[in-house]
Amino acid sequence: MITGVFRDASRPLAERVADLLSRMTREEKIGQLGQVRMSDYEKNRSAYLDGVRAGKWGSRILAETAWAGDGGASALKVEQLNEIQRVAVEESRLGIPILYGRDVIYGHRTVFPIPHSYAASFNPDLVQRALSAVAAEASSEGVHWTFSPMLDLVRDPRWGRVIESPGEDPYLSSRMAVAAVRGFQGEQFGGDKSLLACAKHFAGYGGAEGGRDYDTTEWTDNTLHNMILPPFRAAAKAGVASMMAGFNDLGGTPVSSSRALMRDWLKGELDWNGFIVSDWGSIFDLIGHGVAGDERAATLRAFTAGIDMEMIAGFYERNIGALIDSGEMPATWLDDAVSRILLAKFRAGLFEHPCTDPSRAATTLRHPDHVALAVELATQSMVLLKNKNNSLPLAPTLKKFAVLGPYAEARREHLGSWCLDGRPNEVTSILDGLRTAAPEKEFITANAAFSDACVDVARQAECVILCVGESHLRNGENKSIAELALPPGQEQLIAALGGLGLSLIVVDCSGRYLPSPAAEAHASAILHAGCLGTEAGTAIARVLLGHAYPSGKLPMTIPRSTGQIPLYYNRKTVGKTVTFVDRYRGYEEQLLTPLYRFGYGLGYTTFTLANQQLSAATMSADGAVTLRATLTNTGARAGAEVVQFYICDPVASTSRPGRELKGFQRVELAPGASRVVTFKITAAELEFYGARFHWEVEPGEFRLGLGFDSAAPLPLTLTVMAS
Ligand code: NOJ
Repeated sequence: MITGVFRDASRPLAERVADLLSRMTREEKIGQLGQVRMSDYEKNRSAYLDGVRAGKWGSRILAETAWAGDGGASALKVEQLNEIQRVAVEESRLGIPILYGRDVIYGHRTVFPIPHSYAASFNPDLVQRALSAVAAEASSEGVHWTFSPMLDLVRDPRWGRVIESPGEDPYLSSRMAVAAVRGFQGEQFGGDKSLLACAKHFAGYGGAEGGRDYDTTEWTDNTLHNMILPPFRAAAKAGVASMMAGFNDLGGTPVSSSRALMRDWLKGELDWNGFIVSDWGSIFDLIGHGVAGDERAATLRAFTAGIDMEMIAGFYERNIGALIDSGEMPATWLDDAVSRILLAKFRAGLFEHPCTDPSRAATTLRHPDHVALAVELATQSMVLLKNKNNSLPLAPTLKKFAVLGPYAEARREHLGSWCLDGRPNEVTSILDGLRTAAPEKEFITANAAFSDACVDVARQAECVILCVGESHLRNGENKSIAELALPPGQEQLIAALGGLGLSLIVVDCSGRYLPSPAAEAHASAILHAGCLGTEAGTAIARVLLGHAYPSGKLPMTIPRSTGQIPLYYNRKTVGKTVTFVDRYRGYEEQLLTPLYRFGYGLGYTTFTLANQQLSAATMSADGAVTLRATLTNTGARAGAEVVQFYICDPVASTSRPGRELKGFQRVELAPGASRVVTFKITAAELEFYGARFHWEVEPGEFRLGLGFDSAAPLPLTLTVMAS
């Protein structure tokens, strides 16, 4: 085995990278840029191991298809991963370990809520702890690198991939981005219980036209910088090890060929030192997009743009050498790309512990601490949308419940559509959750979710808990819907049971936030549960029975109908809504307002905010002021409220959103208790990307306020003085 500085863990990483790079042949360097599948491993074992020995691949993706989340992926085999790794480190010339990547998006064997649900917790600390448990589990089975967090800002819930996204707001998404990066990677790289993270899909993929997956995106420069890029910037600042280039065309340039976004902005302007991986075949897709005629041209575009590692297609392996020889590509770019990938491997500690102890999984997977965290995050991720006459929590006097609908006993569905390693038999169903939490009560159900017997069963109970929602097969990648509605039959089921005159509690387990006219009309309460993972039934039972309280807030606006899309809270102010203030109508046949707004969610108690005040009415652009108020739990039960801080810049060099979230705090309070909440305001809260094409604070007046959702009044004025 070759020894040298690169093997010395006490040396700075930059020195180790430079030393190793200086020993590599061009073929070995190009090899580091490739990621392969190694499908049918047993059949092709000797060919794969020969390739590993020759240093042909830097990484292996632990999935067989591009849609492994829904389509299923082979279970991880630590012995097999160790066998390959041993060949890489002991039999290849330089002993460079292979980086194993897998889509460990929000759970491993303990499955947590999907990101669209956990964003509703408005609790980044808890999300960070949850994802560090996920990292511990996945790394115990040999995974080094996860393709998460997904940070695509979304405004169209028809798009099936909203379930992976933290929602419509750049600030909330940025907070979740930092939590995810720290959770997966640990506060410091290199622990063998952590994973390298990958922020994706860089950038703008969430704007797929018509909500059709992979479709064209058309974000303007202004929206791109103010809305789409901030979560990626936050992830870069938090030290995310990698990013993934998206599939989408963005205003004429497919992002996988965008030098302006990757080489210039991410690597240049932000000076971020991680590496960029393509999405599955996204370099191949440059041919389909019509910006490259063949694989050589596609390679040139993608590599020039700054993609360091290619997922799957093999274009880099076959073309980069020739492109350097012809002078179309400088050899320094190859060195830069390889250095970034090696840096990630050093950061992950792979040179120190390339293999995984096969006994670790047994003591790590579904560790009771992980399960407890999953119950807590699932509880905090639910959003109570409606609660007529305090129907929830269920009154202690009620003894007999009918638990009905397609989700009453469902298991796999709670795992969501990007889950490779969760096991349906380890999921607690809603019915089981209720029976375990309240053995003294009676929970009856019907044999079939849509049978007319449901009505009969409901009549035997005092209260109906109707569990509806989309299955995991109706959303996720390449699964979009044209109409924003519950799946066929569910509206009728809600209406039929609603007609019985019993208290009807609708629990919606859809991965996205769908309007339900029948639930609006008939339900006493609507609890949006989302996809909560393995502990779904336990968490839902806790909230229904009042053993815990709901506190989630919507990370995405719920429109009244498909026709309102796009509808998001941080829309620009529109001239005519001001000048035609009394006559502006928007739609002839529908209100302009959403069904439920961003940031909204009920609890089991009531809160007030009093004495909102600023520490000063003016500040300089580099100064700071404090906004404070007193939060009081005025109800009779304990609860948590998310205090949200919104600002508006009414006159600026470009049009600006009517309001923007710039801070939040989730506060738990006992009945009658109060707490002073404070928010620091600095340039970071006030600056934006304006007419001069860079981020700055423009002097002038800002309106500010705190509240419990995105309709919070903005009663305060802060004047930023010109410097
Ligand atoms: C395609 C998806 O777009 C991406 O999110 C995922 O990480 C890769 N496939 C790998 O499975």
